[in-house]
Amino acid sequence: MLNNIIVILNFHLFLLYLHLSNTINLFFMENKIVLFANMKGGVGKSTLCATFANYLVAKGVPVVVLDADIQRSILRHRERELEAEPGAQIPWQVQFLDTAKAKDIMPKLKKLQGVVLIDTPGNIYDANLQHIFKAADLCLVPLTYDSDNIDSTRVFSMVVKKVSDAKLVFIPNNIVTIQEKSASVSEDRSKAYAALKELGYITPKIKQSLTVKQYSTLQPLDRYKTNAVQYAFDPIMEMLK
Ligand SMILES: Nc1ncnc2c1ncn2[C@@H]1O[C@H](COP(=O)(O)OP(=O)(O)O)[C@@H](O)[C@H]1O
Ligand SMILES: [Mg+2]
Repeated sequence: MLNNIIVILNFHLFLLYLHLSNTINLFFMENKIVLFANMKGGVGKSTLCATFANYLVAKGVPVVVLDADIQRSILRHRERELEAEPGAQIPWQVQFLDTAKAKDIMPKLKKLQGVVLIDTPGNIYDANLQHIFKAADLCLVPLTYDSDNIDSTRVFSMVVKKVSDAKLVFIPNNIVTIQEKSASVSEDRSKAYAALKELGYITPKIKQSLTVKQYSTLQPLDRYKTNAVQYAFDPIMEMLK
C-alpha cells in the first residue's frame, strides 16, 4: 500500500518536474529570428510559415509573424479569415515587413522575446534582404524534390551561406510518397538528399495533403494537421531551445 502511494507520488513529482522544466525553458526562451525562404516560389513557404506559427503557439511559445513577401499571402489569408469570423481570437500577430526598412527594423526585432517568423520573398536580387538573412538564426527552406527545385535550392543555399551564419534547415514538402515506389524517383530523391545534407539539416518530409494545404491563421492545429507536420517541426523546435 505504502509502496503504491510512493510510486504515485513520485509519478506526480515527475509530471510536475516536466511541467516546470518546460515552463522554465519557455520563460527563458531568448529571441530567435526564423526565416522561411527559398528563391523558388510555390514550395510552401507561406503555408508552412503560418502552420509553424500555429505549432509554436500550441507549444506555448510567443510568436510574431512578419510577411515580407509583396504578395502578402499570409496577411491576405488572415484578412479573409477575419472577414468570415470577425470576433475570432487572434493566436499570433502578423504584420507586413517592408524589406526597404529591414536595416532599421531587424535590430529592433532581435530585442523581442520569443520567435519572430519571417515569410521572405523569393527575389534574392533584393539587396535589402541581406539585412534579414544576416539577422536570422534559422533559415528554413521548404523544397519539393523535383530536380529543377533541388538545383535552385542549392544555388540559393550558397547565396544564404555567403551573407549569413543562420543554420540552414531543409523541409521536403508537398511530397507524394507513392511516387517513391518508382526506382528512378527513389534514386533521384536519395541523390538530392545527399547533396542537401552537405549544406544543412534535412527534416523528415511533409506529405502532399489537403490537411496541410487548407491552413488557417486563426484556428489551432487539430490532430490531423499536427500529425502531418510534427515530424518535420519537432526537430526545428529542439533547435530553438
Ligand atoms: N504539403 C502540402 N500539401 C498540399 N499542398 C501544399 C502543401 N504545401 C504547399 N501546398 C500548396 O502549394 C502551393 C504553394 O504553396 P505556398 O505556401 O503558397 O508556397 P510559397 O509561399 O513558397 O510560394 C499552394 O497552393 C499550397 O496550398
Ligand atoms: Mg508565399
